[in-house]
Amino acid sequence: DAGHYDTGGYEHYLLKEISEQPESIARTLRGRLDERFHIAHLGGLNMDARETRSFRRVKIIGCGSAYYSGQIGAQLIEELARIPADAEPASEYRYRNPVIDPDTLYVAISQSGETYDTLAAVQEIKRKGGRVIGIVNAVGSAIAREVDGGIYLHAGPEVSVASTKAFTSTAIAFALLALHFGRVHDLSPSDGRRIVEGLRKLPDQIEQILKQGERIAELAKKYADHPSMMFVGRVRGYPVAREGAQKLKEISYVHAEAYPASELKHGPLALIGPDMPTVAIVPDDELLDKNLTTLGEIRARGGRVLMVGHRQPDAKLADDVIVIPKNEIELDPILLTIPLQLLAYHAAVALERDVDKPRNLAKSVTVE
Ligand code: G6P
Repeated sequence: DAGHYDTGGYEHYLLKEISEQPESIARTLRGRLDERFHIAHLGGLNMDARETRSFRRVKIIGCGSAYYSGQIGAQLIEELARIPADAEPASEYRYRNPVIDPDTLYVAISQSGETYDTLAAVQEIKRKGGRVIGIVNAVGSAIAREVDGGIYLHAGPEVSVASTKAFTSTAIAFALLALHFGRVHDLSPSDGRRIVEGLRKLPDQIEQILKQGERIAELAKKYADHPSMMFVGRVRGYPVAREGAQKLKEISYVHAEAYPASELKHGPLALIGPDMPTVAIVPDDELLDKNLTTLGEIRARGGRVLMVGHRQPDAKLADDVIVIPKNEIELDPILLTIPLQLLAYHAAVALERDVDKPRNLAKSVTVE
């Protein structure tokens, strides 16, 4: 129920929510960045510095897009705070009788705060004495009430079934959490400053990506013609690829698979050919050359390549390229997600799908 919240002149809630991201991200950041000490203020965690230092591991749980944003989060925490972190689907987690460890901080992610599998996982962790925080959008929701503390996204209501602004705001919340943890561990003030400044730049950079909407709509028309698409990325690009494939599947019903680019040669390369184009996430990071090699391998098998990255590669390596602004390498995944949201949206429109209410799916799954 959208209540007073309408599409504000956009054709669909989804496009409105994609377009709102410069503001929703600014709201997630508001009042939380400290320019003087290069730290994040996260009062809702209810944790002093000593306690913050005491965790040796971070375990992240969520469902669907929340889980994929958790994978971005785990990488941010490992990179910036050097604390081992990983993400797992909440439903898998709760059914496998997990070991609850007193030195682990558990993080539950949920836009709605009502997803039953995530709530049940939180209750299981708490029952066994674990410490859980929430990254939640809906204030006062079931998960928000159940956790020991957390970070509210303040992304505003998300109506369209496919998550977009909550996804990017969750990644931002993790960047803040990673900065917070990093600065009580070994993240230097200058690296802290680098991340604070990078976060500040994101809303304007997203605005620039949104301006490419028409061109991405053209590309979507061209690629949505195929029965199936492959999405690949390495390390920071991999959760981006997973979320990109998820968006396309959810709203356009085009089959999509996501793989780490390095895994292609261990199986899925057999699928590559003229009928299965690849969306490749190729940021300018230390893995650029490896990713460009992968593009060559795909093209050599007759596969079409749509590259999303920071510069135009050799013309032989990609059929089409979406070039986006560069931020710090740790924060680039947030920006790389935006063109994939637009690609899925415009593919769904081109195929005349029910964009905001895709078949078989619900906005929040409150049953088992
Ligand atoms: C449903 C929605 C997804 C969403 C997932 C988790 O499956 O269709 O878009 O990512 O639930 O929702 P949550 O509210 O817990 O983030």
